[in-house]
Amino acid sequence: MTATSNFRRKFDVGLAHFYNLKVGGTSDTLAALSVGCGLLATSPALSGQLASFPYSLLPIACTMAGGAWLAWRAMEPWRREHALASSLKIRSDESPLEPDHNPGATTGGLLVGYTTDSGKPIYIDDEHLMRHLFIIGQSGVGKTVAASLLMFQQIQRGGGLLFIDGKIDAANLAQIYHYCCYTGRQHDFLVINPDDPDNSNTYNPVLFGDADEKADGILQLIPSTETNPGADFFKQEAKQALTTLIRALQRARLAYNVIDLTVLLMNGSAMLELERKLATAAPGSAELKEFTLFLDKFRVQPSPQNPAGGIDMKKLKDVFGGIGGRLYSFGTGKFGQIMNTYDPEVNLYEAIRGNKIVYCALPTMGKDTTARNFGRMVIADLRTAISWLQKLPEKDRPWPPFMAFCDEAGSYLNENWSRIPEQSRSAHVFFVPAVQTVANFQAISDELYEMVIGNAWTKLIFKVGTQGTAEEAAELIGKKIGVLRSLSGTTAESSSMSVLRHLPDSNMGAGASMASGEREQEMYIITPDELKGLQKGEAVMTYGGDQIFNIRIPMTKFDKESQARFGEFRVNRFRASGLVIDGIRWRPAGFFANVDRYLSTAAVRKETAKAQEEDQKALNADQAKVAALQKAQGAAETAAPGTAPRSTASTASSTAASGFTPDTAAINNRKQKNS
Ligand SMILES: Nc1ncnc2c1ncn2[C@@H]1O[C@H](COP(=O)(O)OP(=O)(O)OP(=O)(O)O)[C@@H](O)[C@H]1O
Ligand SMILES: [Mg+2]
Repeated sequence: MTATSNFRRKFDVGLAHFYNLKVGGTSDTLAALSVGCGLLATSPALSGQLASFPYSLLPIACTMAGGAWLAWRAMEPWRREHALASSLKIRSDESPLEPDHNPGATTGGLLVGYTTDSGKPIYIDDEHLMRHLFIIGQSGVGKTVAASLLMFQQIQRGGGLLFIDGKIDAANLAQIYHYCCYTGRQHDFLVINPDDPDNSNTYNPVLFGDADEKADGILQLIPSTETNPGADFFKQEAKQALTTLIRALQRARLAYNVIDLTVLLMNGSAMLELERKLATAAPGSAELKEFTLFLDKFRVQPSPQNPAGGIDMKKLKDVFGGIGGRLYSFGTGKFGQIMNTYDPEVNLYEAIRGNKIVYCALPTMGKDTTARNFGRMVIADLRTAISWLQKLPEKDRPWPPFMAFCDEAGSYLNENWSRIPEQSRSAHVFFVPAVQTVANFQAISDELYEMVIGNAWTKLIFKVGTQGTAEEAAELIGKKIGVLRSLSGTTAESSSMSVLRHLPDSNMGAGASMASGEREQEMYIITPDELKGLQKGEAVMTYGGDQIFNIRIPMTKFDKESQARFGEFRVNRFRASGLVIDGIRWRPAGFFANVDRYLSTAAVRKETAKAQEEDQKALNADQAKVAALQKAQGAAETAAPGTAPRSTASTASSTAASGFTPDTAAINNRKQKNS
């Protein structure tokens, strides 16, 4: 575009502003009068009266005051123009937090973005961050970029962070590393990366925690019970058994890892060996009694065919069904390299307390089910850490609050999340889950949806893909009472004549009537269509359910020179010092050392294959459920495209003032389908 045409366009827009300017009312009239009086006072007739000081200032003051007001009014269209590009043109509320800009002062919160209207920064304070921040948007619209801005500030202010990366991109790891380098915090950086064990720290999610918490975490690997009515009972029994086993290990002060558990769950001799070790370490203990009683159920008396006696493995496997097979995949191969440790470099509880920065990649190698199971294990471990933090005196809990960013949370979400919002708040941990659609939550249960999304104080809504998600997102933002205007018109023509008589007394008539009406009606504050039209890097933020912002998020990125200066990522290594808990040194359980003696490859392969098949089936079923839900939402939308419900009174066309009214049919349809 040439400079002239650019100027011409701006001139036209400016002229249009003047046309649209509505001048009138008391203030404008007084201002005009004031200017008029000021000018009148300069006339020769009055100038004599006002020649002396201070009366001579009166005409100037009047003209200036009136002129200033009128100029302020004339500039209104420009003042209302948005400072940043926006597809919504809504006015944002004031920032919930006005940070102290004095040098050295901390903000006490994080910057989320800048309002499109005034360009003002929007901060969320720590207290409200602890009520969690939920991010939703379709692929490639800026969710990770938005969370990166938060992570950068969190790192910069010395806070702790766990970034669970569900969509592994080498750039994400590099970026967090660069943030650490820039802020001088490389030494606080820990990495869990099963894809690249040589550049990963070691991690053992089954080691630290109360026995029943750990049992709960491990049992999450078993797919949801709803497809199998008997499974609930099985889970109860399995949980009891696993708890007893872990208690025995802990009481014997034996450090264990995933492969040790696998060996124990798949081999009776290993179980008996643990019983002997426990009897030596803690004779007469309650844990030993419990474990012996548990094993009694499976003991086989020596017989001519089986002179040694032992444990009925088939019965034992029925109790632990499938857990061993699932754990095995985490105890071998690349996973094994990271997880077969008795002295892990990453201990989430310690990491949170030490404000560490932990990047955890879900594996891309192997099957989706492995990534999903690993994500769930990490979340379960995080929950253990959170429950311990809750028990600490308030002053010892992390501050600034610890940030847990769960990217692509939909892929490893399960019922376990429902307890997260309330527990983590009191532990000073805030969650930032990012998802592409809410259908993943709905597919599990409406309660989970309510707990995780409904309870998030701040919601960041980016451009959404499907109509169903757009409807849900619009619902999250809320509704307002709007005015529905209707205009109806009728016209009528009539003619009558007698057919047989050719007389001029036939009748003809024509009539027209027009009626207009207004009625109040609930409508979306931001419509689903508007949400589908948001631009990349632009979001609608809701805060506390009643404040709304249209914001743009800046992208934080280091230039090539800085990246070269920071160099390639290098993992921090720590000297192994052995596991010491409460001043007591724990010995390695060491079942893995005898893995060949304990595990027959054929049996393990069979168990693992069976577990993988079941997991794949469960994953397919979950994905089908999500797809069906999305399809149902879409179909409901096609059947009843978001038009205004018709007023029963109006006879002809009616138009909604805001162009859209809620499609309650679609929402109810979704809810019914889901229930
Ligand atoms: N605020 C922004 N400013 C400028 N560019 C942006 C912004 N947000 C996103 N982008 C561009 O869009 C790309 C994708 O953004 P991002 O990775 O955050 O998407 P996403 O929503 O996380 O997608 P996915 O769900 O696929 O991970 C970025 O690499 C960047 O080029
Ligand atoms: Mg992303």
